[in-house]
Amino acid sequence: MQTISDISSLREQIALLKREGRTIALVPTMGNLHEGHLTLVRKAKEHADIVVVSIFVNPMQFERADDLNNYPRTLDNDLSILNGEGVELVFTPTPEIMYPDGLDKQTSVEVPGLSHMLEGVSRPGHFKGVATIVTKLFNIVRPEFACFGEKDFQQLAVIKQMTEDLCFGIKIIGVPTVRELDGLAMSSRNGLLTMDERQRAPVLAKTMRWVSSQIRGGRNDYSSLVEDAEDQLRAAGLHPDEIFIRDAKTLLTIGEETSQAVILISAFLGKARLIDNQVLELVVEEKEQEQV
Ligand code: PAF
Repeated sequence: MQTISDISSLREQIALLKREGRTIALVPTMGNLHEGHLTLVRKAKEHADIVVVSIFVNPMQFERADDLNNYPRTLDNDLSILNGEGVELVFTPTPEIMYPDGLDKQTSVEVPGLSHMLEGVSRPGHFKGVATIVTKLFNIVRPEFACFGEKDFQQLAVIKQMTEDLCFGIKIIGVPTVRELDGLAMSSRNGLLTMDERQRAPVLAKTMRWVSSQIRGGRNDYSSLVEDAEDQLRAAGLHPDEIFIRDAKTLLTIGEETSQAVILISAFLGKARLIDNQVLELVVEEKEQEQV
């Protein structure tokens, strides 16, 4: 496994591999790798000859300095995990390499609409930061495939839209969320939880499943359903951040034409902001009746 920090050396290596006719899959990460990331790496291996993993805690996508500073950094451990997975290339740039003129002078990429709704309202620059760094990584690595977790549902939607709009010609592969045995979605932020918080954290997924079962049971008073879910989170000592029930394809509010809904849920627990989501099929009775 080769670990490379500068852009030109990485480009040289990639040019070599491409000359040999090898296909490349990119797995962008911010490090602190867990089983969820390894699932991305394994999925990438199914699609391409060579897997390139990037590890970069991207300052442009953080709204708050304390969140950026608290983000767990475990590079040595990450590298030995990736070595064990048989990854060929790891890109570990510094902020100075990725943003040589600083963040203020960096050309940025915005996906209108998708970036400014839902999580983008409370985190106004977040998806611009994600779209910009992913664009840079795409341009540096020039992969045929790129894998992203479905846990970051809106991020995946933003990246898919951006890839299409900017004609990258890269196949974006969404990989299902990996969970701990108690249902908690795996995340680097789980490492910020104290033992007590870790025990309470699965309530997020449990509440999400409860919302899903309520909808499947026919409940469609979405605002009061969200309030009930928030109460459940509060009762377990979590601070609800945002809960949205939306059309899974457009991320807009559910309408008559919605066939698939998504529950997007986030809450604060100690130093961590935890997120999760679940997609569910909607049985639209009127539609079915019309079709009969
Ligand atoms: O999902 C993440 O870890 C990050 O948002 C990503 C895609 C690596 C961009 O920094």
